[in-house]
Amino acid sequence: MSTRTAVVTGASSGIGAATARRLAEAGYRVLLTARREDRIEALAAELTAAGHEALAYPLDVTDREAVDAFAASLDPHSPVHVLVNNAGGALGTDPVATGDPADWRAMYEVNVLGVLHVTQALLPALTASGDGTVVVLSSTAGLGTYEGGGGYVAAKHGAHAIATTLRLELCGDPVRVIEVAPGMVRTEEFSLTRFRGDEEKAAAVYAGVAEPLTAEDVADTVAWAVTRPPHVNIDLLVVRPRAQAANHKVHREPGA
Ligand SMILES: NC(=O)c1ccc[n+]([C@@H]2O[C@H](COP(=O)([O-])OP(=O)(O)OC[C@H]3O[C@@H](n4cnc5c(N)ncnc54)[C@H](OP(=O)(O)O)[C@@H]3O)[C@@H](O)[C@H]2O)c1
Repeated sequence: MSTRTAVVTGASSGIGAATARRLAEAGYRVLLTARREDRIEALAAELTAAGHEALAYPLDVTDREAVDAFAASLDPHSPVHVLVNNAGGALGTDPVATGDPADWRAMYEVNVLGVLHVTQALLPALTASGDGTVVVLSSTAGLGTYEGGGGYVAAKHGAHAIATTLRLELCGDPVRVIEVAPGMVRTEEFSLTRFRGDEEKAAAVYAGVAEPLTAEDVADTVAWAVTRPPHVNIDLLVVRPRAQAANHKVHREPGA
């Protein structure tokens, strides 16, 4: 196939980095974005050394002007085929009664408005490709609620709403919309960020769970969905570890 381009947001760690690696291996030219430039530069160098095409663009998805500048910097003769809206995360586990509105706002900014900004900015390039794919990395928190999920649950429901609405609105255009909703994934930073660096609390999330999903498991799922023939739209993929039958139902080994 001729070279196809994929943009991955939040490519500096976890699922985003793994997805960028996986798409590069699948033959995509990958554009890596995240706020931490050193990390995406290092990943771009790693992928380039392995014979892939990869470029790093430092980008905060909550900054609309920066997102527009990123879109404007792209070569108009090199269309974008895939956008993976992965940047996101959770802050805190407070109940609704006491949740900090600043946390809720920050989660809405990155998980909802971040998806909106980058999708709006790249939609012309995705449409021009004649075969575009928008991926929204939501979460099972976007499909059901749990105590303490609070602002993250609300924000991921927002991301889910973007995916379902956009799919309706683009019906007839050459762009499909795929939502991937993972359950428990043990990544380097997700829980650490949620618990503001408290390693003990972060580790407790996975205590006794024999095999939470890995970033690579989710990347594999994204890559599979994206590499289906263009007329096939995988609307929504829910992917959980076997030990997690529902948000609330997690099997933990006794004594852990
Ligand atoms: N881990 C899980 O259990 C799980 C489950 C379901 C869904 N998810 C979702 O999957 C996605 C990836 O999660 P992960 O587990 O890989 O988490 P992670 O390791 O914490 O990665 C989050 C990524 O988002 C980027 N990011 C955060 N804020 C950003 C901003 N304002 N602008 C640009 N990039 C930003 C971070 O990069 P910088 O800090 O360098 O900007 C980082 O690369 C998130 O949307 C998360 O909500 C995770």
